[in-house]
Amino acid sequence: MTHAEVQSRIGQLRHELAAHDERYYRHARPEIGDFEYDVLKAELSALEARFPALAASESPTQRVGDDRAEGFVRAKHRLAMTTLDNTYDETELREFHARLVKALGCDDLAYTVEPKIDGVAVSLTYEHGKLTRAVTRGDGEEGDEVTANVKTIANLPHALKPALGGGDDLFAPTLPVLIEIRGEIFLREEEFRRINQVQEAAGEAPYANPRNLAAGTVKLLDSKLVAARRLEIVLYGMGACEPAPEALALDSQTSLQTQLQAWGLPVVEKCWSVRGIDAVWAAICELERLRHTFAYPTDGAVVKLDHFLQQAVVGYRGAGQAARKLSPRWACAYKFAPERAETRIRAITLQVGRTGAVTPVAELEPVLLAGTTVKRATLHNADEIARKDVRVGDAVLVEKAGEIIPAVVHVLLAKRPADSEPYVFPKTCPICGTELVREAGGVKWLCPNPTCPEKVRRKIEHFASKACLDIDGLGEEVVELLLRHGLIKTLPDLFKLTVAGLLPLKKSGEVWATNLVNAITARRGADLWRVIHGLGIPHVGAASAKDLARRFRSLDALLAASLNDLVQIDGFGEKTAEAVRAWFDDPANQVLVGDLQAAGLAPSVPTAVVGDAVLAGKTFVLTGTLPSLSRDEAAVLIEAAGGKVSSSVSRKTHYVVAGEDAGSKLTKAQSLGVAILDEAGLRALLAGA
Ligand code: IVH
Repeated sequence: MTHAEVQSRIGQLRHELAAHDERYYRHARPEIGDFEYDVLKAELSALEARFPALAASESPTQRVGDDRAEGFVRAKHRLAMTTLDNTYDETELREFHARLVKALGCDDLAYTVEPKIDGVAVSLTYEHGKLTRAVTRGDGEEGDEVTANVKTIANLPHALKPALGGGDDLFAPTLPVLIEIRGEIFLREEEFRRINQVQEAAGEAPYANPRNLAAGTVKLLDSKLVAARRLEIVLYGMGACEPAPEALALDSQTSLQTQLQAWGLPVVEKCWSVRGIDAVWAAICELERLRHTFAYPTDGAVVKLDHFLQQAVVGYRGAGQAARKLSPRWACAYKFAPERAETRIRAITLQVGRTGAVTPVAELEPVLLAGTTVKRATLHNADEIARKDVRVGDAVLVEKAGEIIPAVVHVLLAKRPADSEPYVFPKTCPICGTELVREAGGVKWLCPNPTCPEKVRRKIEHFASKACLDIDGLGEEVVELLLRHGLIKTLPDLFKLTVAGLLPLKKSGEVWATNLVNAITARRGADLWRVIHGLGIPHVGAASAKDLARRFRSLDALLAASLNDLVQIDGFGEKTAEAVRAWFDDPANQVLVGDLQAAGLAPSVPTAVVGDAVLAGKTFVLTGTLPSLSRDEAAVLIEAAGGKVSSSVSRKTHYVVAGEDAGSKLTKAQSLGVAILDEAGLRALLAGA
């Protein structure tokens, strides 16, 4: 490579990696797998090392990916939260050990080997044993405060158990004045699948893996939504500690693990304390065998020099310069390569979703991968097919890393059949033949035909599903049956079904027909939010539907809502507000809503938000300790009067109710000019109600 070529490649890699960092850390929606990302980063590091003159402090190799997002209060870590160097290569791991042997002059070094949890890093502060703060890594120096969200995690104690021992006095309680405890928030695979089903039912793109979903959940602005997803946590490290760790008899990673456990905190299921690199390698091999039995997704092993004194001697990369600490020289992550297999693409099929999105799927020659037979892999969208130049007949590598949905990594060009032809993404819908249109500002191709049979089928399934109207007995098979016999063509037809009309569909089907008609009739008065959710408005999931129901209280009021009214709703971005307005502006949707009402649909609104709900539409944030009400009690009173309680302060917050020891939320409210109430003020407002 010429100097100019190197310079250009470095520029390209920095640009690409920065874009991937933004998608992974800020949006929890990466486009490429960890392995592909690590390969790009390793290439950049190698070039920067060979051409030091081209190194730059703003390179992605010189900083921690930044997860900070809008809507959160920022908080500084007392001790920087760094990340880890990683490798997929045993030789590099042995080189890590060799560097430490050289620095410490001893080759029988003590290490711990722990699972590397594929989750979201968080730092918890416990003061005098009480959990006071939870902060994301952010840029390593300062993160987002997510305390309310983290407090919803069921396996996380809000208070440490005062264990005895430590220091000179064996019977002295060992609760530090302040300690930052670091760990990883994660989702189990079952929970990931459950949430993704709900996500898809809401017409939202599913998350590719549990890590992305956990990251998206930790950054939700409404803690109640977080509580509805069963996040879990595991803790493995320490930041600042007062008094110094030695005073608590914490002198090694092994002793820290024991202490965390004694305080009642969830720790890794297995941690090996070993000596020498061969024992490290043996532990990693055992971990690789065991990892699928762990509760959390495990994408590698973290090897740490056990003794804190030795850690202090070798220190951090990046320390000492003006630059911030980057990664410890005393630890290394050995990542397990994603499981990949070679197979061939038999065909590319297209799936049409409820919103009309056409998703290409590779139909594969079945191949065994990560313990399951894989027959299909997602090709994401037309742009991805073009970027990878995927063709029918191609030999491809498929991967199933943390990714639950197998994906095509790349084509094995050397094995491409001579007569293969580039795949041409169809211009028309594979179901109804209507010309496809490109999603505005997006990558999807959509079937715009409102009567496309596949869209209709999926819309009806969605409307009847558990997450929406929850109509008993109206699952996929029954919807298919009703469509096939022409008994339903649109949603309102559901409410016109009669027992007599259903009888010819099944032999001796009286009971079935009666039950189905009764079940549908019973749901005519379903909660308004269920109906709104069931309409399938793009970007409106259950949570947004509840916000809309709470704010507008009838379909007619919602139909008349202005864009401005919609943007005012706490948690509603412009995208959601515009999607709602655009949906109701479509004459076909107005007819649909009218027809549903004419067919007898009369949604109900919970009593708490009808009538005298003078706090309707008002958003509150509670902070600090109120004199006589707990925060939960205050929240119940506010919600009963039609208000909404949110966990973070933004411009859309109407009132902050502040008690004693109110922290950063109060400061933020003051800086944004949000009205601040004490408990008496809140009671006066409620009395007005
Ligand atoms: S120790 C100084 N131990 O993986 C950094 N990290 O890819 C100390 N991680 O930044 C981190 N499991 O967020 C440590 N057992 C473990 C871990 C672990 C997962 C995360 C952590 C880290 C990232 C690096």
